[in-house]
Amino acid sequence: MKILIIGSGAREHAIAWKVKQDPRVSQIYLAPGNAGTSSIAQNIPIPVTDLESLLAWAKKERPDFTIVGPEIPLCLGIVDLFEKENLPIFGPNQQAAQLEGSKIFTKNILVKYGIPTALSGSFTELDKAEIFSQKLGFPQVIKADGLAAGKGVLIVQNFKQAQEGLRQILVDRHFGAAGNSVLIEEFLDGQEASIHAITDGNSYRILPSAQDHKRVGDGDTGLNTGGMGAYSPAPCVTPELLEIVRKTVFDPLLIAFKKENIDYRGVLYAGLMLTSKGPKVLEFNARLGDPETQVLLPLLETSLIDVVEAVWKRTLDQINFKVSPLHAMTIVMAAPGYPENPITGTEISGLEVKGKSNTAIFHAGTKSIAEKITTAGGRVLTITAWAESLQLARDLAYERLSLVSFEGAHFRRDIGHRALF
Ligand code: AMP
Ligand code: GLY
Repeated sequence: MKILIIGSGAREHAIAWKVKQDPRVSQIYLAPGNAGTSSIAQNIPIPVTDLESLLAWAKKERPDFTIVGPEIPLCLGIVDLFEKENLPIFGPNQQAAQLEGSKIFTKNILVKYGIPTALSGSFTELDKAEIFSQKLGFPQVIKADGLAAGKGVLIVQNFKQAQEGLRQILVDRHFGAAGNSVLIEEFLDGQEASIHAITDGNSYRILPSAQDHKRVGDGDTGLNTGGMGAYSPAPCVTPELLEIVRKTVFDPLLIAFKKENIDYRGVLYAGLMLTSKGPKVLEFNARLGDPETQVLLPLLETSLIDVVEAVWKRTLDQINFKVSPLHAMTIVMAAPGYPENPITGTEISGLEVKGKSNTAIFHAGTKSIAEKITTAGGRVLTITAWAESLQLARDLAYERLSLVSFEGAHFRRDIGHRALF
């Protein structure tokens, strides 16, 4: 089988690593990939937003499956284009991908079908937004409606800050067209957890729970990032809680899709706040999380090809979906200056160490230049390990990390702290 993976991050490297384990797979292509993926696949230099070139390539090469990593090509409609040409592809179509592409689209579905979420209002006009903001109370959360690379969410403490935030989004257009509308919602308190489900529109399967670490510094301090590490499963998601999430979130969501004629096939990644009144949806993503994928795929025992094939054929309820009882952790090694101004172009050493089983290094921002691998992005590598306990997975991951180096590398030393310390 020939598999095309769209994307260039550690998530896509992990997808390639997992796909490669299926003996039916003979060739993997990454568009555009990175230095890590080039060691197990062929990189094709097409950006994820160039749908025309991706389609032209796929029509010529006829991959047996295309797996889409990031949200942007999904929201641009890559799945619709490939489906028209009868090219099997994994991910939601453009209409369904609005679940990530528009926070207001999602909020409307959640409210209509009684799925627990923060109380909110949506606005296009500043004066109406301000009236609602003042009534709601503080802290509150202001969100640009569209995709804003994880930056369109502001937590504000008072009305003055709210006014500033609303103006930035609606008037100054800090997030461009993503800020044509805003959502203002009540602040929810609790632990956050990520639950990924895979659906073929008729049924769904749940991957182990995970927890991401968004802040750059230990103890959840400093600036927000794309994620500095993750672990799975997250003990705060007990079996009882997961049952509640199935009954109150995923079951009604699948019913909602049917009623609204939304053909959702792919990943449903629920960002949840575990509040004292039960789990509530903060957001949905239409793809696998990054860095969550790097801990979830090592724990998936079933072939990913079996899963994507079953989603395409709508036979997900018929496959043997097996998840390992192990624990996994991944630690992001970032470039100096990340997340504000990452400095790139320095050589990385220690990537090739043999005999380290139950570990994997998934590349995020790397490049090969004249036999050397150098840094080429803010998040550079994700060092992953899996073991019988979270503590052992942590020890193994940090031990492997200690063998890798590049100038100015920084990483968090407390990944998994909510579960371990
Ligand atoms: P989102 O992109 O909607 O998931 O928001 C990004 C981050 O903002 C989340 O991971 C939370 O940490 C925080 N957040 C979003 N909505 C809320 C809320 N209603 N209450 C508290 N924190 C929130
Ligand atoms: N881990 C957060 C995300 O993938 O959006």
